[in-house]
Amino acid sequence: MLTKNLFKILISCLICWQIAAPTSTALIQSKYYSYRQPSFDGTGKYYMGREIAQVMGHQGAGWLERPDRATEEQPQKMVAALELKSTDVVADIGAGTGYISQLIAQQVPEGKVLAVDVQPEMIELLNQRIQKSKITNIQPQLGTEQSPELPAASIDLAIMVDAYHEFSYPHEMMAGIVAALKPGGRVVLTEYRGEDPKVFIKPHHKTTQKQIEYEMKDVGLKLLKNESVLPQQHLFFFVKS
Ligand SMILES: C[S@@+](CC[C@H](N)C(=O)[O-])C[C@H]1O[C@@H](n2cnc3c(N)ncnc32)[C@H](O)[C@@H]1O
Repeated sequence: MLTKNLFKILISCLICWQIAAPTSTALIQSKYYSYRQPSFDGTGKYYMGREIAQVMGHQGAGWLERPDRATEEQPQKMVAALELKSTDVVADIGAGTGYISQLIAQQVPEGKVLAVDVQPEMIELLNQRIQKSKITNIQPQLGTEQSPELPAASIDLAIMVDAYHEFSYPHEMMAGIVAALKPGGRVVLTEYRGEDPKVFIKPHHKTTQKQIEYEMKDVGLKLLKNESVLPQQHLFFFVKS
């Protein structure tokens, strides 16, 4: 009886292994990523020593639109610091509901905002925002986990607000973003300050300057400045090195 049960367990393990094997092999062979047991709220997927955060689902859209966000995060200061030209083409990658896209769109009346997200539900919410507010210069765009789907040399600025740490393929995403920059184009990252224990955000959704510089250097970007104008977030400006 015991032998029979052990045999059954062995067979089911082999079946599971067969199913899991192609994925496991792909994971082991991954050039940029390694995998460990996920920590609390983490994905278990590591990039350059950082555990990638879970993607904030569209169910959390209300949090992005919370009424006290303007006072808590002061995004107007962030937008002012971008020093945009009215004709600029800006890609807001990980745009979510378009809260930030809308603020930026007002600054580029002769340009446009490409609002990219991987969740179709977020794209739907973006479309609803556009219809409601009658904005004409936001273009929602469904990206993939590995590509922002932007044409080469097409954007003046790429901005990621509280999004980069969620990218499940940061290397591929950033390579696509860098390729999409026009000559002289800039990359801006807004990330909750990982160095500051008074910023009460889940650990994987916070980032340190040291880590970000390390990751951006790997995709050919150098830090121009980190503007300290926001109460809780870094505001990094990168250009091609
Ligand atoms: C925390 S939300 C921030 C939304 C918006 N930037 C804001 O501040 O209101 C992060 C967003 O990034 C999106 N995201 C995650 N990985 C992505 C990827 N590889 N490409 C584009 N969007 C992505 C998620 O779907 C989510 O909507």
